[in-house]
Amino acid sequence: MIITIDGPAGSGKSTVARMLADKLGFVHFNSGSLFRGITAYLLSQEENINNIDEKKIKKLRLKTRFDGKNQLVFVNSQNFSKHLRDDEVSKCAPIISAVPEFRAKIDECQCKFVENNNVVIDGRDIGSHVFPNADVKFYLDCDIDERAKRRFKEEKLKNPDITLKEIKDSIITRDKYDMNKPISPLVVPEGAITIDSTRLTPEKVVDEMLKHIKVQK
Ligand code: DC
Repeated sequence: MIITIDGPAGSGKSTVARMLADKLGFVHFNSGSLFRGITAYLLSQEENINNIDEKKIKKLRLKTRFDGKNQLVFVNSQNFSKHLRDDEVSKCAPIISAVPEFRAKIDECQCKFVENNNVVIDGRDIGSHVFPNADVKFYLDCDIDERAKRRFKEEKLKNPDITLKEIKDSIITRDKYDMNKPISPLVVPEGAITIDSTRLTPEKVVDEMLKHIKVQK
């Protein structure tokens, strides 16, 4: 069974996807981790992120597996899991996400994985492009100010000087980029159930989702 959750940055997709997967006994697959894994690999190779040779992309071997609940990402057999959240990786991942050849690699890895697993998978194009025929599709929305507040709380721990305005501006830029990129832009997938998480706790969002899911035994 495939359950997809798409939505903008900071809407709480990953948190909710993990909780929902736990409730259902499914695997939580975070598709952003694959974009981040490839980005971490390219940075480790000191590649020019803006101009990667197509042949090199084709040769790249991407794998993901789970160690308990942790999703590990391997590129060319090297484990990049510890670097997925590095600042430089976060900065450069959007560039990689706009390259069709990288997206094709990632799509292939995702499709292979779901053949043998029940999954809750979150990302930006999962219900619209990767699995348009998923069993249940959600679009998790959230007000920009609330998303900025949530991110601010997390970021302040790493960078005490950061301001709420800086975070809000970066989310606005990110939304514009995600929604307007020529390949796989962020859209509400056809047939998706939209949930607005602005005033809901993650637990309430999960409860709402569960109302739409009938697990086949
Ligand atoms: O959700 P995230 O920040 O971990 O995603 C990392 C990058 O990958 C971000 O630039 C959005 C992009 N992405 C995407 O284009 N499509 C997906 N299905 C998932 C992530």
